[in-house]
Amino acid sequence: MLLEKSNIAEFDAPTVVSKVDMKAPMDPYDHARYDDLLKIDKLWRLIGNTHTDFVLDNPETLRSVMDGLDYLVVRDDSNQIVGAISVLDCKRGGLFKIDSLAVDPPERGKGYARALARGAIELCVDRRAKEIFTWALPASQPLFSSLGFEVYETNDDGDASMFLEIDRKTAA
Ligand SMILES: CC(C)(COP(=O)(O)OP(=O)(O)OC[C@H]1O[C@@H](n2cnc3c(N)ncnc32)[C@H](O)[C@@H]1OP(=O)(O)O)[C@@H](O)C(=O)NCCC(=O)NCCS
Repeated sequence: MLLEKSNIAEFDAPTVVSKVDMKAPMDPYDHARYDDLLKIDKLWRLIGNTHTDFVLDNPETLRSVMDGLDYLVVRDDSNQIVGAISVLDCKRGGLFKIDSLAVDPPERGKGYARALARGAIELCVDRRAKEIFTWALPASQPLFSSLGFEVYETNDDGDASMFLEIDRKTAA
């Protein structure tokens, strides 16, 4: 199975990465799912997103903003999301985009971002990706480099476009 476990050296237990359903319309009484969406939105804000300010009190509209992306998450012992990453199929020549990687500040340094990034790459590979793109802030560039991404361009703030080419012969 694709998204099972990633072995993180510092951890006693492996990190479980799971996928959040963004396809099914919201059941207004499904508070746990609404909490998941709100938490993903909160994590988005750590990387500067505010474009959902006006839909936060409308679960179905919030879901529809996230629909079209695959969201992978890690959860704590009480099943609360503590980190997330998104995957977009650009539907063009096998190009995929990995985005919105963020981990709750108190949960950092435990290997969650690495597990999420690896899970996202595996998801892209499973979907027959030929190339994966990400726009990486300085904090996540060493992580993406260590996973095989190469910097294409860096802006004045140090943010970089990074690409990973998938060798379909070895990825198959
Ligand atoms: C960047 C971020 C996702 C890292 O999350 P994390 O769970 O602490 O990362 P991990 O514990 O999985 O560490 C993964 C690797 O990245 C490195 N790393 C983590 N934070 C780093 C930082 N601020 N600067 C440089 N390297 C960093 C770690 O040393 C680790 O390397 P190693 O595996 O070789 O030891 C987290 O700090 C965060 O959410 N930051 C705010 C949002 C953000 O900048 N997101 C990136 C968007 S592209």
